[in-house]
Amino acid sequence: MTTIQSSRKADLIVGIQWGDEGKGKIVDLLAQKYDAVARYQGGHNAGHTIWVDGVKYALHLIPSGVLNPEALNIIGNGVVVCPEALIKEMKQFDKLEGRLFVSESAHMILNYHIAIDQAKEKMRGEKAIGTTGRGIGPSYADKISRSGHRMGELKDIDLLTESIIEHFEQNAAVFKAMDILLPSKEELRTELTGYAERLLPFVCNTTKMAWDLMKNDKKVLLEGAQGTLLDIDHGTYPYVTSSSTISAGACTGLGISPKDIGNITGIVKAYCTRVGNGPFPTEEFGAAGDRLREQGHEFGTTTGRPRRCGWFDAVACKHASRINGCDELSIMKLDVLDGFDEVKMCIAYEYEGRQIDYMPSDIENVIPVYKNFPGWDKTEGVRSWAELPETAKSYLKFLEKVTETKIGMISTSPDRNDTILL
Ligand code: GDP
Ligand code: IMO
Ligand code: MG
Repeated sequence: MTTIQSSRKADLIVGIQWGDEGKGKIVDLLAQKYDAVARYQGGHNAGHTIWVDGVKYALHLIPSGVLNPEALNIIGNGVVVCPEALIKEMKQFDKLEGRLFVSESAHMILNYHIAIDQAKEKMRGEKAIGTTGRGIGPSYADKISRSGHRMGELKDIDLLTESIIEHFEQNAAVFKAMDILLPSKEELRTELTGYAERLLPFVCNTTKMAWDLMKNDKKVLLEGAQGTLLDIDHGTYPYVTSSSTISAGACTGLGISPKDIGNITGIVKAYCTRVGNGPFPTEEFGAAGDRLREQGHEFGTTTGRPRRCGWFDAVACKHASRINGCDELSIMKLDVLDGFDEVKMCIAYEYEGRQIDYMPSDIENVIPVYKNFPGWDKTEGVRSWAELPETAKSYLKFLEKVTETKIGMISTSPDRNDTILL
């Protein structure tokens, strides 16, 4: 007997740092050539800003392929879906029927998850993770503890209402301790009925759908949210998000096999940012950090928080590239380094009295070792390698060597077209 394998592999885009690398811009750019784009993890904690012809779009849950009218957009089983947030986001687009598909197995984020997230952050005080407050952790926690509720359950509102009320009763002490007000049965039923009416037309078996697309030789792009350093297993724990943000997460989060994955592109900024708390070895607290924030407009798409900024960390990038199996890197926001007299790159860590080139689990104890590069005037809007200043080319060539990953794309402005394809 022969096994039927899908004939085409799905390509994958993954964040290499602490999120906000510019994944949305690259997914949108590539989506023009793909038949489908699929999200596999995270929720509306993600925030992607995409500029097309001077118009700004903010996406959180809907895959960044939505701006290609021909592409199908899949929200896989590994995503946590806040029905209210999804309904709000859908209003930006005219016609989504037949273009948007939400997994019946994706877990829901309901109001009580959001309340728990915010209450726990408050209780953590100085040790707060700095979550986006969107209920991500509590929803994934319910999924893992087998007390979550899935999108497909919206098909039977009575059963779902009963099950959630049961959950409230079983956890009454916890909700009380956190001062969380719960809806009455009738309020809950009304809320869920509204979600069902609006969203059920989009709910389906997205795993089978992904298999069929690949089998029929369609091009599928897998879109990671957040970044590798926020991964639940491989990130800077506990200052991480609650999902598998790495390339391997696409297998569990969509129901495809590792053999289904084709080209893997890691998205990195030419410097580093982080929003929320936790270790960040190359963070710049002085003028350089402020300048990166201003020039890079480093304020969160989801929460508007100022992002912490610092120099490119080649150790973290090499580590993340290996975990994800990156075939290539897209270097984003090179233009933000324009005008600096000198640009720095972390090329090793000092750790327990020696130099290392990997990320230890207690990353808060490393000291970055820097290499300085002469700066350049302008890369903004440059669309070919030949036009880049020689000093910028030297910086990029060194980056490629030290991270042991070839550069496939370079981005020089938020615009879709200001991208160098190598
Ligand atoms: P994502 O979450 O990884 O999709 O990234 P975000 O959208 O949260 O953050 C990236 C920001 O940088 C967005 O505002 C983009 O419009 C912007 N951006 C993307 N590429 C470039 C670039 O090459 N240069 C500049 N200046 N901005 C860029
Ligand atoms: P995109 O997809 C940057 C961060 C939060 C916090 C930590 C945990 O736009 O790159 P959570 O709400 O997920 O429990 O918060 O993760 N975080 C992000 N940082 N970009 C994101 O998404 C993020 N999603 C979550 O700031 O530190
Ligand atoms: Mg973002």
